[in-house]
Amino acid sequence: MNAFIQAMPKAELHVHLEGTLEPDLSFALAAKNGIDLPYETPEALLAAYDFHDLPSFLAIYYRAMHVLQDESDFFDLTWAYLKKARSQNVLYAELFFDPQAHTSRGVAFKTVIDGIRRAQEQAQSELGMETQLILCFLRDMSAESAMATLKEALPYKHLLIGVGLDSDEKNNPPLKFAAVFALARTEGLKLTMHCDVNQLNTLVHIGQVLHDIKVDRIDHGINSLEDPALCKIIAERGLGLTVCPVSNRFCVQDLTASHLRKMLQLGMRATVNSDDPAYFRAYMNENLQALLDDGGLTIDEIVQLVRNSFLVSWISEERREYYLNLLDAHVQAAA
Ligand code: HPA
Ligand code: ZN
Repeated sequence: MNAFIQAMPKAELHVHLEGTLEPDLSFALAAKNGIDLPYETPEALLAAYDFHDLPSFLAIYYRAMHVLQDESDFFDLTWAYLKKARSQNVLYAELFFDPQAHTSRGVAFKTVIDGIRRAQEQAQSELGMETQLILCFLRDMSAESAMATLKEALPYKHLLIGVGLDSDEKNNPPLKFAAVFALARTEGLKLTMHCDVNQLNTLVHIGQVLHDIKVDRIDHGINSLEDPALCKIIAERGLGLTVCPVSNRFCVQDLTASHLRKMLQLGMRATVNSDDPAYFRAYMNENLQALLDDGGLTIDEIVQLVRNSFLVSWISEERREYYLNLLDAHVQAAA
């Protein structure tokens, strides 16, 4: 690993906690919870990861979640990710979670959020790592289910910074959730939505998140580059785009390094993120290293992408300045 990248202070803005479930932890939780896995070893489970697009990934991702049953399981999941991220000098993270993937199989919302929250608190006290939580709705479930989930979450609003939208985008446009996101906005939550790469009607969907939903950030958003008018709005509003290079290499067979370069050239605030690192076998630093080694990005471009993460993160101006100063000091020390 490039030592400069390893030691650089970083932020992660697009990581699904359920996507950080490593095979070893799957096996440990399955044994604890008396669940039979259809594989003999963690290595065999890993070898069965066979995805080439978003739906084939999601099928494996949802199937694996059944081992997550009680509060301590959600704690263990979150704590393992936070320790790993901190070891890569990720100092700040905004974490996605998918409550409907758990409540739909009988796990209570409170169980999920209590376990995650306890790990966040421990990361703050033991690792000095700051995190915030983003509740994602599953877009292939109904708008009614999303609304019910939002209402169930409102008593925990103080534990959330925002809401997002993930899962299978095909035939599930942003507008389907307009009322849910409008209520979330009224409740003071930030808004983001996935605009996954190369989806059917992607430019229509990106237009909806900008003009109708009026998101505060876009997850992925690569295809905006196909429309100069969309790029202009994203740049003018200073909207962050949470790009996930190694995830893209799996789901659309392209690391999207040239897209990241183009976004930077257009003044769009692109960032680099890991998405589902246990599945794509790449945490933050492996994503940055891939952009350097395989994508041909320069160190200056990498630094700009990391800087953008702090610029578009949902933190106070005081914390932003603190992190940007750390980053500047790291860059200057290496010059
Ligand atoms: N896109 C949509 N749904 C997801 C993703 C993603 O990148 N990761 C986990 N769920
Ligand atoms: Zn994602």
